[in-house]
Amino acid sequence: MKNIDRRIKSHLKAIEKDPEAFDECVELADLYLEMGRSLEAKTFFEKAILIDPTCPGTHNELGLVLEKEGNLGEAMRSYKAALLVDPSYADAHNNIGNLKHEDGDLDGAIKCYKRAIKNEPTLAAAFNNIGNIKVDLGNNKAAIKNFKRALEIDPQMVEAYINLGNLYKDIGKTKEAILNYQMALRLAPEEEATRHNLNAALGKTTKHPPNEFVKEIFDEYAPKFDSHLVGDLGYQIPSILRDSVDSVYPDWKMDRGLDLGCGTGICGTVFSDRIPEIVGIDISPKMLEISKRKKVYNELVLGELNEILNERHDRFDFFVSADVFIYVGDLEDIFSSIRRLSNRKALFVFSTEHAEGDSYELLPSGRYAHSENYINKLSNRYNFCRTSFSLQRVRKEGDDWIKGGVYILEA
Ligand SMILES: C[S@@+](CC[C@H](N)C(=O)[O-])C[C@H]1O[C@@H](n2cnc3c(N)ncnc32)[C@H](O)[C@@H]1O
Repeated sequence: MKNIDRRIKSHLKAIEKDPEAFDECVELADLYLEMGRSLEAKTFFEKAILIDPTCPGTHNELGLVLEKEGNLGEAMRSYKAALLVDPSYADAHNNIGNLKHEDGDLDGAIKCYKRAIKNEPTLAAAFNNIGNIKVDLGNNKAAIKNFKRALEIDPQMVEAYINLGNLYKDIGKTKEAILNYQMALRLAPEEEATRHNLNAALGKTTKHPPNEFVKEIFDEYAPKFDSHLVGDLGYQIPSILRDSVDSVYPDWKMDRGLDLGCGTGICGTVFSDRIPEIVGIDISPKMLEISKRKKVYNELVLGELNEILNERHDRFDFFVSADVFIYVGDLEDIFSSIRRLSNRKALFVFSTEHAEGDSYELLPSGRYAHSENYINKLSNRYNFCRTSFSLQRVRKEGDDWIKGGVYILEA
């Protein structure tokens, strides 16, 4: 770090001496990028462009900073500026492809990646990106071919190993998934989500998934969550929970509710006519943004469930958690916190992905399944009385339905 600081100082000095020093500005911007200081990086890329607007790489790098900031319109303008200077600049075609992919324009994205490859046939990232689109299109054979081509060109490309691993996992080729996850982890041991997927593929049950793994899944899934999960996969757990409570406690009403893993706010909507005050917690900022728009929560809290519950001391009469424990794993701390935050006769209503046996397990899918015996054990330990249990259909997976447990516990 000291070395970087020294280099930054020396570049700043050089720029002070010669404010037109293009290379100094670009090198300084790159150093700032390396340190994660994107604001300063942006300033010096912009300064470099003012000095010499004819370098496509600078426009492209500025585009990457803007894209990372979420400023997608400006990023697109920068990539296009790079192509105005040099229409054969492959990285800019590739980056425009990524923006189009994000925008759902799959055909447009593929065209950009192909243009990138035409101009630079060894651009591994473009093959990897085409692979991702082929996954979206359900063309697994073409996806595998493109990921493998990316790895032929760049055998150190962690992302392509991860993509291959995920695809093999999804199509049930566990051995191949394991090999690719292992390759990725050899190159990037810090990839916690990949380690989780490797454990899942190996059948090794861990206590919890990494927070980043859950956050990333749901930040990406958020925009299509309601239409895909409810519309396409037949997800009805929030209303099944509501029906279960109605049938055991007709005319029930509670003062304060806590929705654990509130997601896009479906439970808030389903329960709000019986609970005037509901607090929602979720780890995914993008899911929370959507639930905020539904205006059914009095308070929305961003964070990991166990961490947030540990910090709270206010009491509730109702706790709901629909399809969330599959991403939590061990439920001991959740039960302990809910007991501590429960008013007398509070209800704790939740669903699980159902497992046989006495415990919980990490499934090859990367989700956790919990057995009835495990939930019963925790209910007894934390003094809850089970007033309802049923097996239900959670959502479709391929042609099959995932079997889930629906529980009501009373404090
Ligand atoms: C399948 S969604 C269900 C959302 C909502 N309960 C529903 O039924 O529509 C799971 C949600 O739980 C959140 N989640 C999973 N694990 C979490 C954790 N440890 N802490 C906070 N939120 C979590 C996810 O971000 C996601 O929004």
